[in-house]
Amino acid sequence: MAPELSLLSCLQNYLSFLFFSFTTIFFLFSLLLLLLRSRPWCNCHVCKAYLSSSWTAEFANLCDWYTHLLRESPTGTIDIHVLGNTITTNPDNVEYMLKTRFDNFPKGKPFSSLLGDFLGRGIFNVDGESWQFQRKMASLELGSVYARSFAFDIVSTEVRRRLLPLFTTVSERVIDLQDMFRRFAFDNICKISFGLDPGCLEVSLPMSEFAAAFDTASRLSAGRATAVAPAVWKLKRLLNVGSERELRRAIRMVNVLANEVIRQRRKLGFASNLDLLSRFMSSVDDDRYLRDIVISFLLAGRDTVASGLTSFFLLLSKHPEVTAAIRDEIANVMRGSGDDEVASLNQLKEMHYVHAAMYESMRLYPPIQFDSKFCIEDAVLPDGTFVRKGTRVTYHPYAMGRMESIWGPDCEKFKPERWLHDRKFVPQSPFKYSVFQAGLRVCLGKEMALMEMKTVIVSVVRSFDVQVLDGDQPPKFAPGLTASIRGGLSARVRRRSSGEERPGHGAC
Ligand code: HEM
Repeated sequence: MAPELSLLSCLQNYLSFLFFSFTTIFFLFSLLLLLLRSRPWCNCHVCKAYLSSSWTAEFANLCDWYTHLLRESPTGTIDIHVLGNTITTNPDNVEYMLKTRFDNFPKGKPFSSLLGDFLGRGIFNVDGESWQFQRKMASLELGSVYARSFAFDIVSTEVRRRLLPLFTTVSERVIDLQDMFRRFAFDNICKISFGLDPGCLEVSLPMSEFAAAFDTASRLSAGRATAVAPAVWKLKRLLNVGSERELRRAIRMVNVLANEVIRQRRKLGFASNLDLLSRFMSSVDDDRYLRDIVISFLLAGRDTVASGLTSFFLLLSKHPEVTAAIRDEIANVMRGSGDDEVASLNQLKEMHYVHAAMYESMRLYPPIQFDSKFCIEDAVLPDGTFVRKGTRVTYHPYAMGRMESIWGPDCEKFKPERWLHDRKFVPQSPFKYSVFQAGLRVCLGKEMALMEMKTVIVSVVRSFDVQVLDGDQPPKFAPGLTASIRGGLSARVRRRSSGEERPGHGAC
């Protein structure tokens, strides 16, 4: 071998050795820092219960255990030291982090790294300019009067042509309501946001492989946040083993659909279309970025609405008096509107009791049960809690809905009347009712989601009896970014006769 080649090979080996040593030291150092920050050795009773999962002996869900701890805390705030996580239900704290000191509580890098593989640079996962750009584009689309009536036309057509006929076909049979509502919400969000119809709400269609992959990706991404040492999932990702391998596979499948959506939209043309994706496509030509945008809107629009509807019918089946009051209101408002089973936009607006019942069900079962930010600089929350920089701070709509200090001693009761004054719906502060978040990043699809849910509720309650099986058991939630009931929600639907739909036949 020529002496120059041998020298080159020596140099190469030396550099490889240096690189390997540097990477190992860097990795161990990061691991040490992470361990120091998350305090996995903490011996307090809460951390011990978290680590040993002993809380499961008493509580069906982690959110129920957190609710219990938060109710016991005099400030409505707790620390889970092993997770480096401060959790709060205090409305003043919520206002402070989401509005007053918004700049100090971004999503932050740790969050983007947890969800980055799944959500990429989509709106849920970014701060700064990228967030501002997507928010501006999306609010132009979702906030316009045109877009609202476009969305209503799509939703009412989907209810009239697919959902109600499907419910009629399965009348007297047991179905999985959660699955039906997911299919319904998926069709709607695809039509509204991308101008495409996947036709998921066909009885003969099995839930697509894609939807299953979407659920897996959401579950496993959320699971990363519950790990005491993030280094564990990072190492598993590096080695492509276990849950990380499963996640990678699910994301690959999700990407196939997202890319297909983009391809079809491009083929059909986007210049003259007013759906959300077309709007984005006219200013973004990076397909990877478009993929992230598609995923975020699917997540925003499918799972949240389906979750809200599922828990609504769960509560309704335990409260015949609310069903009766809803039917009375529908009969009053829709009197004289002929045989149309779907209410008009104006009629929906007149239904204050239905509106109150929707708010009330999401108070108890918010589709997004908690949401976290990362504190950039040390801060003191309004309740006096000190938050060190780098801490994850979580506001918890699920626990907030169950706090006596916010809703009074009957906070656990499903009582739509609490939202009514003189029979008119009166909203509460969004920092108390944080179901749609609040402040500068408040949900952009709120009005659309409420319209969609209300259209379904009015049509279904008017024409069907829905009886949830095992409705007396408290729901068990599956881990994921959005609340979903483990194993679905079995229910029997029965078409009411036209006589029953007349006013005066309110009860179930
Ligand atoms: C009942 C249904 C819904 C609920 C409870 C809900 C709730 C929320 C919550 C809690 C957030 C904050 C999440 C976070 O920052 O990580 C959010 C953000 C958002 N939601 Fe919704 N949402 C619903 C439906 C929808 C729908 C149908 C859309 C429309 C496509 C939508 C679009 C968005 C967008 C774009 C954001 C991001 C806002 C931002 O970061 O600036 N949401 N929503």
